[in-house]
Amino acid sequence: MKTPDIGAPGLGPPLRPRISVEDLLAAKNTPPMRDLADVAADTFDSDEELQEFLTFTRAERHRDLARSPDREFGWPSSVPCLHSATMNTNWADGVTRVAVLTGAGISTDSGIPDYRGPSGVWTQSPDLVAAFTYDSFMGDPAVRARFWQTYLGHAAWQAKPNAAHRALAGLERSGAAVRILTQNVDGLHQKAGSSGRKVLELHGTMHEVVCTGCHVRTSSDATLVRVADGDIDPRCTVCGGILKLAVVLFGERLDPSTVGHAKRIAAQSGLMLAVGSSLQVDPAASLCAVAVEAGHRLVIVNRDPTPYDDLSVEVIREPIGLALPRICAILAANASTTSRAPDPESAV
Ligand SMILES: NC(=O)c1ccc[n+]([C@@H]2O[C@H](COP(=O)([O-])OP(=O)(O)OC[C@H]3O[C@@H](n4cnc5c(N)ncnc54)[C@H](O)[C@@H]3O)[C@@H](O)[C@H]2O)c1
Ligand SMILES: [Zn+2]
Repeated sequence: MKTPDIGAPGLGPPLRPRISVEDLLAAKNTPPMRDLADVAADTFDSDEELQEFLTFTRAERHRDLARSPDREFGWPSSVPCLHSATMNTNWADGVTRVAVLTGAGISTDSGIPDYRGPSGVWTQSPDLVAAFTYDSFMGDPAVRARFWQTYLGHAAWQAKPNAAHRALAGLERSGAAVRILTQNVDGLHQKAGSSGRKVLELHGTMHEVVCTGCHVRTSSDATLVRVADGDIDPRCTVCGGILKLAVVLFGERLDPSTVGHAKRIAAQSGLMLAVGSSLQVDPAASLCAVAVEAGHRLVIVNRDPTPYDDLSVEVIREPIGLALPRICAILAANASTTSRAPDPESAV
């Protein structure tokens, strides 16, 4: 990469001064990624050099992000936050494979509260979520009783898919190669019509119960009936082990094969769409970094800032129920005009 000079005397003023590579490197962490791409476009003589610089910068930013002491506790408020009122969707051009990482925010329109939004469960009563760690659940019958009572009245049992879930199911029907990597346990993607095999439930599902002793899985219904009938700490009818909803509790390990599968999808889809997640829970959130490091575009649809905003090509702050149907319609139109890409499933 050579350092370009600043304009050429006698040829009229350049549209704007070219910035040296050194200055760009010094400032690489300052502007949002898409602004950096714009500024740097004048600095390099070839698109190849520009892309090399942007790939390097993205990876550097991710490393800084991973090292940040704030990472675990949320992102400092000084991180620039993009606002997209007009929704420039150039990033959708040529996209044939889409990975969609969904979080609790996609289900708030269905009446299920999120965790960290203003009326989220965590925001309203932090002790409740903190109480349900894997160790406390396994070690304390009173925690298990409280857990089952909390889930017995959970809004998700009655919830119906909303416009955003339906839009994603419609995108799959349009023939686009789409995979949903969901942190949600509510099953609403499948209820909306997304195929079960195309939805990876990273944090499990509340529609099944698993025995922590013999690992037998059953539908949640029968256990919930027992709880409603007064069995406050239901046990496995086969081995007597502790029963648990098949959701991943805090402190519990995610299924490694599901995570591995999700990473391969993130690395092989041209677009990662992160929808309704505060992106504070790893390893799910880090799938965004996997996509970016593989050179793919990251687009975030979320009301509040996330640690990954600065790595994305676009942040859309519109309500998800409005944004997703529009985005999916554009992606579906692309899928019908672009020659069919191999489905990510066949490649991973
Ligand atoms: N529906 C569910 O299954 C459910 C509900 C609550 C929590 N959880 C679990 O808790 C964890 C929470 O992490 P998370 O990142 O998914 O959620 P989160 O609560 O941390 O973040 C949700 C994000 O969605 C945004 N949001 C909410 N409604 C929105 C709307 N209509 N339009 C635009 N943005 C909106 C909020 O600003 C927030 O940043 C996940 O692991 C998940 O398993 C699941
Ligand atoms: Zn059992």
